[in-house]
Amino acid sequence: MKLVVTGGAGFIGSNLVHYWIERHPEDSVTVVDALTYAGRRESLSDLFGNPRFSFLQRSIVDAPAMEAALAGADLVVHLAAESHNDRAIERPIPFVETNVLGTAVLLEACRKRDVARFHHVSTDEVYGSLELGEPGRFTESTPYRPRGPYSASKAGSDHLVRAWFETYGLAVTLSNCGNNFGPFQFPEKLIPLAITRLLTGGKVPLYGDGRNVRDWIYVLDHCAAIDLIARRGRIGSTYLISAENELANVEVVHRILRHMGRGEDSIEQVPDRKGHDRRYALDPSRLKDELGWRPEVDFDAGLTSTIDWYVRRTDWWAPLVKRAPGAGE
Ligand SMILES: NC(=O)c1ccc[n+]([C@@H]2O[C@H](COP(=O)([O-])OP(=O)(O)OC[C@H]3O[C@@H](n4cnc5c(N)ncnc54)[C@H](O)[C@@H]3O)[C@@H](O)[C@H]2O)c1
Repeated sequence: MKLVVTGGAGFIGSNLVHYWIERHPEDSVTVVDALTYAGRRESLSDLFGNPRFSFLQRSIVDAPAMEAALAGADLVVHLAAESHNDRAIERPIPFVETNVLGTAVLLEACRKRDVARFHHVSTDEVYGSLELGEPGRFTESTPYRPRGPYSASKAGSDHLVRAWFETYGLAVTLSNCGNNFGPFQFPEKLIPLAITRLLTGGKVPLYGDGRNVRDWIYVLDHCAAIDLIARRGRIGSTYLISAENELANVEVVHRILRHMGRGEDSIEQVPDRKGHDRRYALDPSRLKDELGWRPEVDFDAGLTSTIDWYVRRTDWWAPLVKRAPGAGE
């Protein structure tokens, strides 16, 4: 099978490409990535020269390039996006361009090239915010209520994917996942930001009261879910992906401090993010019942291996730490 991964030089994309090359020796993988600040060729460096891997540096808004790139593709897994909330608050328009327009361009290219399947990778943030202590979690039928430019642009892209299914019969699947962590994550997001600040003698910035709750998943568990859904998910369906690790930001930071032998005094409170969503929580029952997916990496084990990776790979992150605004997540 010929797989095209958009955004394959980003955090989840580069983990997915490595996962796929290892698990599916019969497949070839082409990465399409514009290499924005978040895309790192270095995250794929071991694959250049592999005959089953190719790389195309192009923006997904470039329609002729996308039509050419998708010729002969059997499956497209779409991850390319502007992905960081703090950047969206400062400069929202690139989020609309890449996440909304870029997705529409790709869908059109899939239609013109008769691509057999298209899998769209989205976020729990499209469902809005739950209150702390409120019972219930997001399900596939929860109404969309995005509250910020990032989540609204991802919601727009989800609607477009469903529109291409309903209108043109394009064979799509969608997944919405919570907060990922693991190797190759840009050090602007909470976990790598905290680890790299501590490794460089700084403090960990924590938004507001630190009680905002996120639903955490180790990135390779997300990749395994994408693999299943993209190949075997019901066409036209959405699957929520969650390892059911609901943790407050302050709890995540405390666990990192413990793992790294540091105390409370390494936390620095910073003013809260504008419109900061309080809590996300997802019910993954459909994915478990229909496709038999189970997460394999427990939160603390994933955190230990992530910290070990950042300790080993200063060559990967040290050039990036000056470029990150905000306090992550
Ligand atoms: N990180 C998370 O916790 C999380 C959770 C749920 C869903 N998601 C979704 O997963 C996807 C990947 O997230 P990530 O954390 O790996 O993001 P990331 O920011 O690390 O990577 C995004 C990649 O997309 C590329 N890109 C950006 N604009 C592009 C364009 N116009 N054309 C081509 N490539 C472009 C970047 O160069 C980068 O390689 C996104 O769609 C995001 O919304 C992420």
